[in-house]
Amino acid sequence: MKKIALQISPEAKAAYFSDFIKVAKKELLAVVGDITVNHINKGSLNFFELEIKHEDFERLLKLSFVQGIYAIDSELLQPLDITADFPLHDDFIFGSKFKGKTNERLTQMLINVGLATINAKPEQGISLLDPMCGRATTLLWAMQYGIKARGIEQDPKALEDIHRNLKKWTKLHRQKHKISDGFIGGSKKNGKFIDFTSADTGMRVVNGDARNTNHIFKKEKFDLLISDLPYGVQHFTTDKTRNPLSVIKQCIDAWKSCLKKRGAIVLAFNSNNPKRNALIEVFESNGFQTMSFSAPHRMSESIIRDVIIFKLKGTI
Ligand SMILES: C[S@@+](CC[C@H](N)C(=O)[O-])C[C@H]1O[C@@H](n2cnc3c(N)ncnc32)[C@H](O)[C@@H]1O
Repeated sequence: MKKIALQISPEAKAAYFSDFIKVAKKELLAVVGDITVNHINKGSLNFFELEIKHEDFERLLKLSFVQGIYAIDSELLQPLDITADFPLHDDFIFGSKFKGKTNERLTQMLINVGLATINAKPEQGISLLDPMCGRATTLLWAMQYGIKARGIEQDPKALEDIHRNLKKWTKLHRQKHKISDGFIGGSKKNGKFIDFTSADTGMRVVNGDARNTNHIFKKEKFDLLISDLPYGVQHFTTDKTRNPLSVIKQCIDAWKSCLKKRGAIVLAFNSNNPKRNALIEVFESNGFQTMSFSAPHRMSESIIRDVIIFKLKGTI
């Protein structure tokens, strides 16, 4: 075991606002298990002190809030010369800016807690679906982890933007890749898709409705279904209500049939609308169990973002 300090990145503050220490600690404990973690300040810098095995360093570096790892030698912090190994340039995830983008670090956290929930490593051939994927922030993160990614988005303009951004970043960073697009089954009646493969991993985005998930990806089952639900402010849901609950109710059977038996659903949502209990009620009355993880953080007067995780009943 090594005594180390994890430096908490200023990006965590941008993602989790004044709750950043609490949220970061929740993510850390979800990933490494229930160990003793001390929060310390040095000037304006924030650290977590903990003892951990060397082989866990790689996982720690991929936590959404970690800027660097230090070995602790008596009172001195010695920065370790290690970085997280990701196949795509950062710009694929952080470079494109658009209205309604899910914070990149929050998205990374959703993947980390999802993997921890199913007790899996990306190299075990994990697949992920974001059924309301916007401009593919979750899917690109999944590719960074070597996870096969699939997405559905109702807005056709989002697919055009994804295509344009992929072309821009692959060209700028000379990233070897393949991009193709077309209509599912070759018919214009079906949704348009974009396929992007690079660095032994890939994603497919389909223009369609999350309520038809089981038809759009009828031959696939997923380990993780991860999404940042529409908040109703930037992004209306399909039936133009501000509350995504009615759409979720219509999606739930389709999502359930696409989830592997030991898979997990990880959702970020504005807990003012729908309330956490209302989401729990919908999922639990449809054969799911709620995991204990939560990470509430106030984003604005009207949005307290939280994270909720479900597994199928009888699989915990
Ligand atoms: C909070 S945004 C997700 C943003 C995304 N994570 C990103 O960073 O680009 C929610 C997305 O859900 C989409 N959406 C809402 N209802 C949908 C539905 N029924 N089917 C597919 N997409 C839907 C919205 O168009 C919006 O892009």
